[in-house]
Amino acid sequence: MKKKFLGLAAAGAMLLTLAGCAGGGTSAGSSEGPKAADQLVVGFSQVGSESGWRTANTTDIQAAFKDAGIELKFSDAQQKQENQIKAIRSYIQQGVDVIAFSPVVETGWDAVLNEAKAANIPVVLTDRAVDSADDSLYESFLGSDFVEEGKKAGEWVLEEYKDSTEPVKIIQLEGTTGAAPAIDRAEGFADAIKGDDKFEVVASQTGDFTRAGGKQVTEALLKSNPDANLIYAHNDDMALGAIEAIEAAGLKPGVDIKIVSVDAVKDGMQALADGKINFIVECSPLLGKQLVDIVNQINEGETPEKRIITEETTFTKDQAAEALPTRQY
Ligand code: AHR
Repeated sequence: MKKKFLGLAAAGAMLLTLAGCAGGGTSAGSSEGPKAADQLVVGFSQVGSESGWRTANTTDIQAAFKDAGIELKFSDAQQKQENQIKAIRSYIQQGVDVIAFSPVVETGWDAVLNEAKAANIPVVLTDRAVDSADDSLYESFLGSDFVEEGKKAGEWVLEEYKDSTEPVKIIQLEGTTGAAPAIDRAEGFADAIKGDDKFEVVASQTGDFTRAGGKQVTEALLKSNPDANLIYAHNDDMALGAIEAIEAAGLKPGVDIKIVSVDAVKDGMQALADGKINFIVECSPLLGKQLVDIVNQINEGETPEKRIITEETTFTKDQAAEALPTRQY
């Protein structure tokens, strides 16, 4: 796809060339090319502020664009797809150079992405994927491999219970229904544990990636499943909510009920170091610099990689204690 701002630059160059032919004094062949950083405008639509991860992601993206001297128009969709669609339409109307967004759910984006394409505005997906058959609707997708994250959580569970002959009853706290990380983390985890029938997911419900949701769902599910052994939370915030619910039920999180979660934000890492969470799979929110790089590549007329996967690790209790003093988020 011809990028909008190169398209405009090319149109400008044509005008200059015509002016040169007409003897207007401008040298022919000048100035098709990238815009200066301070001429670039990027519109970013964020999911919301549902978790510590999301707050860190917003802060990092805003800081990276400020450092790069590129204007970032920012909107918070408050976890609603219709708000994101509105924001994207508004960025199209404003004629921004690039639109970036982290889709709250996977489906339902083709119409608005086709509108961006028709307006020649390149789109970059950050953090979460869209479920579209047409991958020409976006330039690049930068973010984690959520299936892999779920798999790592499941592999830890396999190892943790390798010597146990008893059934292991698992409660799963799902992320936002229809969101890529909720779908993929459930899939990776299920795949990892499926070979051994001692593992049983006895209940699985959404806590919407929030601490309040994690607490509320855990309270209810512990009542219907008092013999649960383990909670698999799709993010740290829900795990932190689950800790409150477990303690309120007079049990010890990390001991009576083990917890594995995803993200590795500071509060989650502290709970891991304190022995209240047993294992965390990292999901890095620090996507700002890479997003700036992608915007710069598009500006230069280069084709960014279609899929850029974030590098991530996992943490045990000791590793969390070691990492905490220098943890950025
Ligand atoms: O899309 C990434 C997920 O969204 C994070 O794991 C979660 O904390 C956030 O809300």
